[in-house]
Amino acid sequence: RKKLGILISGRGSNMAALVEAAKAADCPYEVALVASDKPAAEGLAWAAAQGVATFAQSPKGMAKAEYEAKIDAALREAGVEAIALAGYMRLLTDDFVARWRGRILNIHPSLLPKYKGLDTHARAIAAGDSHGGASVHIVTEELDAGEVLGQAEVAILPGDTVESLAQRVLKEEHRLYPRVVAEFLCR
Ligand code: GAR
Repeated sequence: RKKLGILISGRGSNMAALVEAAKAADCPYEVALVASDKPAAEGLAWAAAQGVATFAQSPKGMAKAEYEAKIDAALREAGVEAIALAGYMRLLTDDFVARWRGRILNIHPSLLPKYKGLDTHARAIAAGDSHGGASVHIVTEELDAGEVLGQAEVAILPGDTVESLAQRVLKEEHRLYPRVVAEFLCR
């Protein structure tokens, strides 16, 4: 099985979906490490309780390159072959992306190429879009712009708020991400 590393910053529900999916005997990946820039991230405690190896490194008080070198070393030490960003809310440097070229995936809560960056659901609702959703894409140096590997569409309903839409999209994210990661690692 391919060794997957997952980077999170908070709740980690997409990470949890990836860990749960890896319990299936025919899953092509195992989760070798969950790492976070936030030592207090909820998802880290959940992963540790599941028996998954975890690593926390706050970037506070250090140069970005130094912080990333520590993350990179932890991933390599765990034998990680591909990285899934799951609510990791920090931009990776061009250097880090280059070192893992073509082997970092991200899940983004919009139908890319629409709404790169933040506040995706608010922007979709404000634009009067019929659908929102989520995309899994390859991470490149340009924010949310790499090849899209899979998407889930969710209808925007009358009266939807950012919270109600985000909740329905998140459910689809939990189905989409494990499927696309598995397909990617088999291709
Ligand atoms: C998810 O909705 C994910 O798509 C989004 O953050 C949430 C993380 O939730 N990611 C981004 O906005 C990336 N820019 P989770 O921590 O429960 O997986």
